[in-house]
Order: sequence, then structure tokens, then C-alpha cells
Amino acid sequence: MAKTFYITTPIYYPSGKLHIGNTYTTVLCDTLKRYKELRGYDTYYLTGMDEHGKKIETVANDRGIAPIDHVTEMAEETKALWDRLNIRYDDFIRTTEKRHKTVVQKIFERLLDQGDIYLGTYKGYYCMPCESFYTETQLNENHTCPDCGRETAQLEEESYFFKLGKYQKRLLQFIEQNPDFITPETRKNEVVSFIQQGLNDLSVSRTTFDWGIKVVSNPKHVVYVWIDALSNYISALGYSTDQNQKYDKYWNGDEVVHVVGKDILRFHAIYWPIMLMALDIPVNFKLHAHGFYMMKDGKMSKSKGQVVYPDIILKRYGLDELRYFLLRELPYGSDGVFTPETFVERINFDLANDFGNLLNRTVSMINKYFEGTINNLDLTPTAFDDDLNKTITEAVHENKKHMNNLKVAQAVQDIWKLISRTNKYIDETMPWVLAKDEEKRNELQNVLYHLSESLRHIGILLKPILIEAVPSLFNQLNVRKENTTWDSLEFGIVKMYSVIKKPIPLFPRLDVDEEVEAIRELLLGKDEEKENLKKIPEISIEDFVKIDFRIGKVIASEKHPDADKLLVSKIDLGNNDIRQIVSGIANDYTPESIIGKHVVVVTNLKPVKLRGILSEGMILAGSNKKTLEVLFAEKLNAGDAVK
Ligand code: ME8
Ligand code: MG
Repeated sequence: MAKTFYITTPIYYPSGKLHIGNTYTTVLCDTLKRYKELRGYDTYYLTGMDEHGKKIETVANDRGIAPIDHVTEMAEETKALWDRLNIRYDDFIRTTEKRHKTVVQKIFERLLDQGDIYLGTYKGYYCMPCESFYTETQLNENHTCPDCGRETAQLEEESYFFKLGKYQKRLLQFIEQNPDFITPETRKNEVVSFIQQGLNDLSVSRTTFDWGIKVVSNPKHVVYVWIDALSNYISALGYSTDQNQKYDKYWNGDEVVHVVGKDILRFHAIYWPIMLMALDIPVNFKLHAHGFYMMKDGKMSKSKGQVVYPDIILKRYGLDELRYFLLRELPYGSDGVFTPETFVERINFDLANDFGNLLNRTVSMINKYFEGTINNLDLTPTAFDDDLNKTITEAVHENKKHMNNLKVAQAVQDIWKLISRTNKYIDETMPWVLAKDEEKRNELQNVLYHLSESLRHIGILLKPILIEAVPSLFNQLNVRKENTTWDSLEFGIVKMYSVIKKPIPLFPRLDVDEEVEAIRELLLGKDEEKENLKKIPEISIEDFVKIDFRIGKVIASEKHPDADKLLVSKIDLGNNDIRQIVSGIANDYTPESIIGKHVVVVTNLKPVKLRGILSEGMILAGSNKKTLEVLFAEKLNAGDAVK
């Protein structure tokens, strides 16, 4: 019977549109699934959405729709995206599905009954406007909110806790005895030293919001984050239900791999195995935590307009271009960088020149010199054959080793070594010279046969990576299906190549300058901006007139003592109404430059403290990615109404 291979992505939060980061993980898992299939495994690929939590509730509220409608829309969008990307997932779990909820509730109650979970109090800091809890270490230095900078209040909340510490020793032992449990090695070391510092009990429930799975025995609590999210890996397989055939087959099968980004390493390397131990479920997964795709100036960030979305690449360039770049440019154990330049270069150099051209030249020469058909009977060897054959064998061997160890970027490079070597073989053997000499006909045929065989090997190794180009390659060379399997990675088994009349280019070359510019324009967040505009809800005139806009004169201004971006100004609103207003304009205006100016003020905003200083209104300013400009008025006076 075939060995089983169960592979999972994280279940993503439906808080915003998925970008090339999430796409990377999903494409990586798709590639590994396809590789294992090529190796004859019975595979199962799970992905899905993590739909509960405060953040999602807030996003839905902001959109003015029910959380379930929001997450359903996002789940549909996400599935449609994976379908466009040809992701061969076998199941898509949503944590709002009944099949998931019942399993989580069972797990929670069992851990409670066993005494692994107990009821206690969670001490934290609460930011009212953000409606969020923070631990002391998450706060700014002066105990203000890390998100909005306002004051926080110390609060206590009833919460269930999971006694992680109880399993600490067992987990360390487990990691020691299973040296390849966590890869890469550096991530494992991080985890080990974290555990060695001692594990605190983990807060696993909340009473401050509803959008979650209710604790059955105490329904004012909802299960908080990780017990809910992590259980998806087994709930989707039917764990603890009478539909558990998949659980038996895949969880208790041969290989189970969770692929995650480094951001959620700890949860998967510590909470999850401990949960499994507590539930008497074998910890038989391997965890792979990859690095992040970054932008040139740091993290991908929506607010900076620095996010790359897969659809735009897909539409303008194509699926294989996207897959190739993502898989090739994120090195094992570190981060990758997306720049328009490297993207275009990878397509031009690697795909169009090195790979595409090799096929093109081979097909053209077989047509030109042999009317489209060559065989392996009348071959006269050249001095370069052995070295090419050696490279083929090595490429297969190295590629296999790297794929088995989840080193996909390296596995891709192994294939490109063979592609380069094959191109070099053309330069060395100079078929166009051989073609001039009737006596060298068998040598020429030998060269073209070697090129074709090398390309066939390249095609097989590329099957999990390039899903549109590879079928085209096999078509153009007219390779029969049985000669495209893993077992047919053997030089010489194809007796004859009868190729297509006119080669079809696999990858068009791109104009570097034009495309770099286009990517800058298209990819970096613009679409998102438009989308955001669309999502702003309509308001009535009654809503609008509730806002009191007035002209104010800046009579004093100084830098905020604790925040570089903020100015604290005194604004005269006429009629002896003088306000203190804190505004985030210090990057663009010095205090001196605005003193004496007339600005537009929202006067009836509820006062707030910003980094400890009271602000009694808001100065209006417009901004885009490059600049921020305060709206000044010239002819109007302090106190004049703005409508
Ligand atoms: O953490 N580069 O969901 P999430 C590469 N719901 N990969 C990236 C990336 C980047 N820049 N940004 C995100 C959650 N990812 C939880 C998971 S699992 C039981 C619960 C990928 O939507 C990477 O795989 O924040 C990362 O771990 C994941 O998206 C985080 O997705
Ligand atoms: Mg995240």
C-alpha cells in the first residue's frame, strides 16, 4: 500500500486579502504535495481559515455586516484564489464549521475534566478605544497602548488557563529524541531555549467578546485563539467523531508535516505538541517554519502600501512565473525579498533564457537537422556526454535529497544547475558545426538526443514546481506519459523523439524597465486603496451634520515630549474657546511653521489622551504615501463654520 503524506498550511485569518506571504506557504505545500505524489505517496493537503476572534469581529463591524457573513465571503474569496492558482488542496477547513466546533468543545471539556485547564484570572492592560488586552511587556514604556498610544487601564478578567508547565519536561525530552521534529535547526534551537526559560500557564478563554467557540460548561467564555486554531489539523480529519477514517489514515499514517511561517513557530512547536500529549494523541508530525517574504524596506505592510498580491502577478505574468519566483527566492532558514527588479530578472534569466530557450533551441534543431525526429540507435558519442550524464544523475540525487528535507529553493537550484550544464553542452558540442559535416551525422543525432533526454529529466523534476510549462515541454518533445514518471528518471529509456514542428516559447522575455515600472505601479497596494475606499459605509446628511468643523487659529505649538510624530498645539476657535489639540503632523510641520495659520478643526470629538497629553479636537490634513498636508484656510477667521 502507498505510504501516506498529510500536509497542512496555517489556517489564515480572514482579516484582509491574502498576499504573497500567505501564497508562498500555500504554494510551498502544494509543491510538496505534488512532489510526494510524484514519488507515489497517497497525499492529503489541508488548508483553511481561522475565523474567530476579536479582530475579525471588529473588521466585520467596521464593514457593517455580521461576522459570519464577512468570514464566509473571505473564505469564498480565498478558495477562489487558490483555485485560480491551481492549488490542489484536498480540504478547506473553516473554524466556524460545526465539524470543527464540536471537536474543539470536546477537547476543551476533556482538558478541563483532566485538570489540565483551570479557571483563574487574567491580568492585563486594556485599551478602551481599541478594545484590546495587552500584557505589561506589550505596552509602550509609559504603559500606553502599543497600537494607538492612548492610556490603558489595568484590568482583571476571569479566564481559563492551560497548565503548559506540566508538560515542559516531556516536551523537551521529545524534542531531544526527535532531532528532526522542528526544522530548520535554528528554529528548533529557538524553541528549546524558550522552553528552558520555563513555560507560563496559557490563557485559553475570553469573556470580553462573543465571536468564538463557546465553552460548553461555562458559556460566558469563548475559547481563545490557539486551542481553537490548532485543533483544525485533526478536526478536519474527523478526530473523535465516527467519521474518523481520514484521521486514522493520515494522522496515524506515515508522514505528517505542518508548514508555518516563523511568526507562529512557538504555538506549533510548544502549544500543539503539549495539547496532543494531554489528549493522548501521538505527536507524529514534523514542523517546518519558513522565513518571511519582505519588501526592500522591511516588512510587507498594508498601511505603507507595501503589499504584493498574487492576483496581479498571476494576471500580468502567469502562474509558473509566480510559483517559480516564490519558491526560488526564499532561502531555507532565512527571509526572502520581493523586489520588482529581482522578479523580472528571474523570469528573464532563469525562465525565458536558460530554460525556455533550451527547449526552443532543441526543438528547432531537431526540426532543422532531422525533420523533427531523432532516435537513440545511431549515436556516436562526444567527449562531453559523460559530464552531462553525470550532472543529470547528480541533479536527480540532489533534488531528491533537498525535496525530502523541504529545502525547496535548493531543489530548484539543483534543476537549474542541470539546465545550465545542458546549455553549456550545446556550446561545447556546437551542433551547427557538426551539421555541416555529413560524416558527423550520428554525432549530431547523439547531441540532440542528449539534449532531449536532459530536458525530459528536467521536466520530471520540475513537475511539482511549474505546472503549466512542464506539460507543454512534454508535448513539444512528444514524450509519452509513462516516460514522465519518477521511475523513468533514467537516461536512455526513450527510444525516439518526434517533436512538434514549431516550438512554442515557454516564457516570453520581459522588457525590464517597463515591467519594473509596471510592478511598482500595480503591485504596491494601489488596488487595496481603491478597495478600502469602496468599503467605507455610506452616511446620511444627519450623520454628517453631527460633526462640527470650524476654522481655528494656531496660537502656539510645540513638540510632544514623548512622541516624535506628534505636535501639541493651542488653537483659538473664536468666542474665547481655546483648545489643546495633539496631531500627528510633526514629520511634516515644525511648530513654528504652523503658528499663526488658520486650520480646519473638528471641535466636537470626544477628548482623548494621546501619549499622556489631552487632545480636545482634531486638525484636518490630507495625505498620500509621499506627503501630508494640513488644510489651511486663508481668508476665513477663527470660529468660522465649515460645512
Ligand atoms: O497566524 N512571508 O494566520 P495569519 C511568508 N490564523 N509567509 C507569510 C508572510 C510573509 N511575509 N506573512 C504571512 C495566523 N505568511 C493564524 C494561524 S494556524 C493553526 C493559525 C504566512 O493569517 C505564514 O505561513 O496571520 C504565516 O505563518 C501565516 O501566513 C500567518 O497567517
Ligand atoms: Mg499574522
